[in-house]
Amino acid sequence: MSESTIESILQEKRLFQPAAEFSQKAQIKSLEDYQQLYDRAKADPEKFWAELAEQELHWFQKWDQVLDWQPPFAKWFVGGKINISYNCLDRHLTTWRRNKAALIWEGEPGDSRTLTYAQLHREVCQFANALKHLGVEKGDRVGIYMPMIPEAAIAMLACARIGAAHTVVFGGFSAEALRDRLVDGQVKVVVTADGGWRKDAIVPLKTQVDKALADGAAPSVENVLVVRRTGQEIPMQLGGRDHWWHELQPQMSADCPAEPMDSEDLLFVLYTSGSTGKPKGVVHTTGGYNLYTHMTTKWIFDLQDTDVYWCTADVGWITGHSYIVYGPLSNGATTLMYEGAPRASNPGCFWDVIQKHGVNVFYTAPTAIRAFIKMGEDIPKARDLSSLRLLGTVGEPINPEAWMWYHRVIGGERCPIVDTWWQTETGGIMITPLPGAIATKPGSATLPFPGILADVVNLEGESVGTNQGGYLAVRHPWPGMMRTVYGDPDRFRKTYWEHIPPKDGKYIYFAGDGARRDEDGYYWVMGRVDDVINVAGHRLGTMEIESALVSHPAVAEAAVVGKPDELKGQDIVAFVTLEGGHTGSDALKAELKQHVGQEIGAIARPGDIRFADALPKTRSGKIMRRLLRDLASGNAVSGDTSTLEDRNVLEALRDEG
Ligand code: WTA
Repeated sequence: MSESTIESILQEKRLFQPAAEFSQKAQIKSLEDYQQLYDRAKADPEKFWAELAEQELHWFQKWDQVLDWQPPFAKWFVGGKINISYNCLDRHLTTWRRNKAALIWEGEPGDSRTLTYAQLHREVCQFANALKHLGVEKGDRVGIYMPMIPEAAIAMLACARIGAAHTVVFGGFSAEALRDRLVDGQVKVVVTADGGWRKDAIVPLKTQVDKALADGAAPSVENVLVVRRTGQEIPMQLGGRDHWWHELQPQMSADCPAEPMDSEDLLFVLYTSGSTGKPKGVVHTTGGYNLYTHMTTKWIFDLQDTDVYWCTADVGWITGHSYIVYGPLSNGATTLMYEGAPRASNPGCFWDVIQKHGVNVFYTAPTAIRAFIKMGEDIPKARDLSSLRLLGTVGEPINPEAWMWYHRVIGGERCPIVDTWWQTETGGIMITPLPGAIATKPGSATLPFPGILADVVNLEGESVGTNQGGYLAVRHPWPGMMRTVYGDPDRFRKTYWEHIPPKDGKYIYFAGDGARRDEDGYYWVMGRVDDVINVAGHRLGTMEIESALVSHPAVAEAAVVGKPDELKGQDIVAFVTLEGGHTGSDALKAELKQHVGQEIGAIARPGDIRFADALPKTRSGKIMRRLLRDLASGNAVSGDTSTLEDRNVLEALRDEG
């Protein structure tokens, strides 16, 4: 932890009440209804969740115990048997939803596909059988490194169906980052594509997989399944490791009953950046995650049966897992998936998709909204966006002006906005408006979801006062919470449960974000309090980027900090000292940026590199990032510098900047 006090300067007073027509049709219709739900859940969280689990999900066998809490390890619906693929597919087939669109997909070049629930079920069953054919068994791990195409969702659901855990690796990650995750997860089969379309170019996924697996670097991987998407020439090891999806999958039987899974069986591992060390594998299990993503989707996105719902995230992130695939399909909704991104040749592509498919509920990130603002409002205004009735954001705090623009230009001043705060670790949305019930304030995620005992605390675990800054925390387990760090329970305990030391056996979940609560009890999330940088809504650990830099032969030492950026929220600034015999130059800067892109992925490439003779350190040798942050942002160095070992270092860095 770097700062012990957190300052909050935002003072936003505007208040937007939900429109009466919206509230009347909403799942949760008034503040009183929300308050009642919240109070009931708080009084007896187990009873609250158990009732919903019974009403909303299919269980092959009911649980014996709702919650087994041996802090910090929680088990939900112990003894219950369930399958999330069954809840997302099979149970809809005996209703009118059988022939409803489950997935509407739009490719970047303009091709599109719609799969009904019956069709999606069939594809999933056939692919599940293909995995079995390749020797995948219950308990194995499958890596998914895919573009945004239906096969990504099909592969996830197929894994869940047979009880294999998936590890989705974002397609923008490099071969090196992919390899680390495949090795850590001991992945048996990798599902990928020849390539994917992004900004009019092909992302060469299969080539990256080949690199990741080269020289037996990920020995657990036995087979690679490849979807033909872009059609460019790629090397295939046929008759051996590599298989074409379109050759194998259609031969398979469409009969593949969903495996009754233990509620606490592993559903997936998703890697995320922390403040120290390598990315951690966040573990989510079956029953609790199914319930939590189901309920949050239902009440927050307020899905009506005729809605087309679109979340613009990539399935490689938790938002894609919970709110493109599992939450919407468990609710029998129509979920839209889009392969592309706004690009020079079509900056209005998002609005085209909304117009073409009559999207009603739209969920995106503040960084995207800021980019749209820059492109100008004429672009969305030239499209018909009248189908929209609800908007959402996720990934970072949204600045009130971006919120107002979203409200006015995209929402036509009629759509509520749900600003949803949550994390990979929480599995689903934690703090958010319920759109028919809770009045919104631009920039505030408003109130906790029913059943979430959120708080803002100091490091002693005491609630801080109104409008005082503190640490965002949760005081009671919830069904969607992560269960552990894959293979490292100790790291789980230390990272999330010991920053605030437990008292009298009471453990508090430490989210790593600063926040305050205003006079109405509304939460204002202020961003990370640790060394995690949030670039365009993507979490990056400083440690990972520093390790990547130091792996370059010219670099002796590196310290990475975030600086405010108009578009991306934060940009990366790297302070670098060089090995003897190397001198700083623009060419070396470019090379180092390229190197980080190679090691981790383009999202981690520093915007700025500054060479230094030495880095500012404490007497005990800790790099003083606080000072570097000030320098990087062009601010005067604030706060105490008395612990600095050598003040000259600071002067030199200042001159350099
Ligand atoms: C940040 C993404 C403010 C926060 C779902 C959190 C937010 C991290 C918001 C998790 C929001 C996410 N307002 N900050 N509405 N949503 N964050 O794991 O710092 O990729 O800790 O999960 O994003 O990022 P992650």
